Amino acid sequence: MTTPLQFYLITDSHYVSKRNWVEAEPFTGREKGDQIALKLSPEILDGFLEKIKADEQTNIVLFTGDNVNNGDKNSHEEFIARLRDLQAAGKRVFVTTATHDYCGDGEDENFFHAVRYTETGTEDIESVHKGDLFDMYYDFGPAEADSVHKESGSYTVLLSPGCRLVMINDNGNGRSHCGLFQDGMQWLTEVLKKAKADGEIVFAAVHHPVLPPWEVYRHLVEFEMVGGYALLKTLFCEENVHVVFTGHTHVQNIQKYTDEQGRWFYDVSTIALVSAYGKMRKVSVDVEARRCKITSVQLEKLEGAPQDKPPQEYLYRINFTGLLESLMPLIKTDFNRFLSEASCVLPTDKLKKHRILAKAALKKLDALPLSVLAKFGKKYNGLTKTEIAALKSKRALTPLFEVMRCVFPGNAPFTPDTVEYKVFTGVTKKADALLKRFPVEKVTKLIPPGSSLTEMAIPMLYNNRTGDDDNLETEV
Ligand SMILES: [Fe+2]
Ligand SMILES: [Fe+2]
Repeated sequence: MTTPLQFYLITDSHYVSKRNWVEAEPFTGREKGDQIALKLSPEILDGFLEKIKADEQTNIVLFTGDNVNNGDKNSHEEFIARLRDLQAAGKRVFVTTATHDYCGDGEDENFFHAVRYTETGTEDIESVHKGDLFDMYYDFGPAEADSVHKESGSYTVLLSPGCRLVMINDNGNGRSHCGLFQDGMQWLTEVLKKAKADGEIVFAAVHHPVLPPWEVYRHLVEFEMVGGYALLKTLFCEENVHVVFTGHTHVQNIQKYTDEQGRWFYDVSTIALVSAYGKMRKVSVDVEARRCKITSVQLEKLEGAPQDKPPQEYLYRINFTGLLESLMPLIKTDFNRFLSEASCVLPTDKLKKHRILAKAALKKLDALPLSVLAKFGKKYNGLTKTEIAALKSKRALTPLFEVMRCVFPGNAPFTPDTVEYKVFTGVTKKADALLKRFPVEKVTKLIPPGSSLTEMAIPMLYNNRTGDDDNLETEV
């Protein structure tokens, strides 16, 4: 039996050099604002790279952008040193870059600015601009490519005979159009047509999403989709590209798109490496059988984090929901500490102004039983009086936090047979009915045309997509 072709994929490592900050409020605030583990980003990346180096069966590694967090030279230097290290360990390394990898230069809309965080603020440090990236990363893809689109930095390589990788580097102005321009699309079309004619399997990768993780994402922040995503959908279907890997959303999510003629592809979006539940993908391809298996790999331990609990539990505090969940008990015991720790996450200035009211409201919310929500949506949720009475002892915030906790790592647990599903969809159905009678523009404008709050809530309650955001087996 031949060894299958295998590769790892890492996205959104948002690496920050330790030369760029000191332990003080300015960088702590930046980390809270960004909602990702910036302080431990080197340790997290190294933890995953150790796993990759230890896997002698897998000699290919892909990085699909937002490799560093702030477009600064220090972080790029250290990131590239790690890529060279991988190469020295016998790995082929393929990289693309994205908007966090460079600083704006006035010509574009990119607002990243290379700084060092001091005790009291920030000071400018050497930055990297978009035009620098191609040469900096030349050895990690373009040098081995059989075709390069230099203007965007996209390229294509054969991973093994019969299996091709197309790394699409998002071009554009860093904000309202991140994608290929016309000549880039033409290059991509030619590459894909040739690969199809040669009978090759093609894996594509691009930083921004081709399919949104949820329709509401496309509705509210369409500029965060890859520019020209509608064209790409058609192109992938026409040219038999069955899997495209994406990042950027920081969401672990697998979507399938099928066009009217039954042609299809998967957008496999991978969670940011530095998210609380950060993962990398491992892909195994049986080229002869034209099948691939995608799995997900997580860290079991993390240098620099407390060793008495899983790293995910520690890192969860960096997320809005994690911080809020861990701080809720402080509302009763130490409201001042609650406010100070929730700064940069909650509107603490407003909460301070209305201290008594805020404290009472938060206490009430903390103690709210699930039965109250069940009663609110009683007409719609299919629960009996006895079932609702049994929910009196259950806290409403527990499943709410669980739903919010699963927004980034996917695979939320509340399938239609669970009481939580019935309660939450009861609430959204009642809210939809109320909105029909009393449309509130602030809310209705958030709902995609033809959709409803209930339709928006269901993909957050359980995986109604492919059934599993971590794993996929498919023909390619
Ligand atoms: Fe990112
Ligand atoms: Fe991004």
